[in-house]
Amino acid sequence: MADTGTDISIARDLLKNGELVAVPTETVYGLAGNALETTSVARIFEVKNRPSFDPLIVHISEYQQLSKYVMHVPPHAERLAKEFWPGPLTILLKKRSIIPDLVTSGLDTVAIRCPNHPLTQSLLRAVDFPLAAPSANPFGFVSPTTAAHVTEQLGSKIKYVLDGGPCSIGVESTIVGFENNKTVVHRFGGVTVEAIEKVVGNVELASSSPSSPKAPGQLKSHYAPRKKMFTVDLEKAIDMIDIDRVAVLSFATDYKVKHQVILSPSGNLAEAAKNLFGALRQLDKMPVELILAEFVPDEGIGRAINDRLRRASAK
Ligand code: TXA
Ligand code: MG
Repeated sequence: MADTGTDISIARDLLKNGELVAVPTETVYGLAGNALETTSVARIFEVKNRPSFDPLIVHISEYQQLSKYVMHVPPHAERLAKEFWPGPLTILLKKRSIIPDLVTSGLDTVAIRCPNHPLTQSLLRAVDFPLAAPSANPFGFVSPTTAAHVTEQLGSKIKYVLDGGPCSIGVESTIVGFENNKTVVHRFGGVTVEAIEKVVGNVELASSSPSSPKAPGQLKSHYAPRKKMFTVDLEKAIDMIDIDRVAVLSFATDYKVKHQVILSPSGNLAEAAKNLFGALRQLDKMPVELILAEFVPDEGIGRAINDRLRRASAK
């Protein structure tokens, strides 16, 4: 079973030896390995049971590291990185050959992010390589937002979980790419579209075909609990449900049913995002057959929440 602790030197030594360590970020916990070593990267895919066509994000300590791993930084990318790093923004840029093809699943772009968590920042500065890190969950399942979530599912497969407490944002990073001078959002996440547009003007949304190899995190069924889940209009559905067999996930309303989780009683989207994945895990453990969830307001970080709810319920 994995040890859990806050010792950077244990994490550093394991990583230097080619092993994997779970690390905290402000979004979700990551399963980290040396991004420049193919054997470590291969181990990440194996431990997560992740298909090799789904590329990984490479984590760096600061903006100055970026040019070591990518060919060119277009002006929009530079502006966004300088505005939001360290933070929940991942950018897609043409990779240099130092990044193994396994990391990018053969694509010529690499996803790079500079996470904003003090422990992982220290760890990144203690090693002389960047960290490849997908969310530390089995492929397709809900992302972990506490060290205990990681241990529950991957504890038998790794040696150390660096415990940075509960993640402050709670949904993954926003992924942006740059095509023909346009900024393209590939995944809604911790940085809002509104905030990005303030820096670079209007963005485009990547058309997410269900099996697009470009951003497989956009596969239709993802971030999913094991129980069947549907998104519905709870206001309308609530009187019709069998309260012994159905659990309810609401944004702010207390529906006064037996099994329910309220994401944010005060109706705060940031709080709802922070609680989302923990709520899905909690609902999964309730003695019910079905989960019914309602969408949150589709603005700001609410778009990331709704995206995850949609994917969690697509079966
Ligand atoms: O917040 C986050 O981004 C977390 C923390 C740990 O940093 N990481 C994370 O990684 O969410 P993962 O592997 O669960 O999701 C990464 C997503 C996947 O959907 C993958 O397809 C996409 O990034 N991705 C990676 N490289 C890509 C590339 N070159 N082009 C398009 N999409 C890419
Ligand atoms: Mg993931």
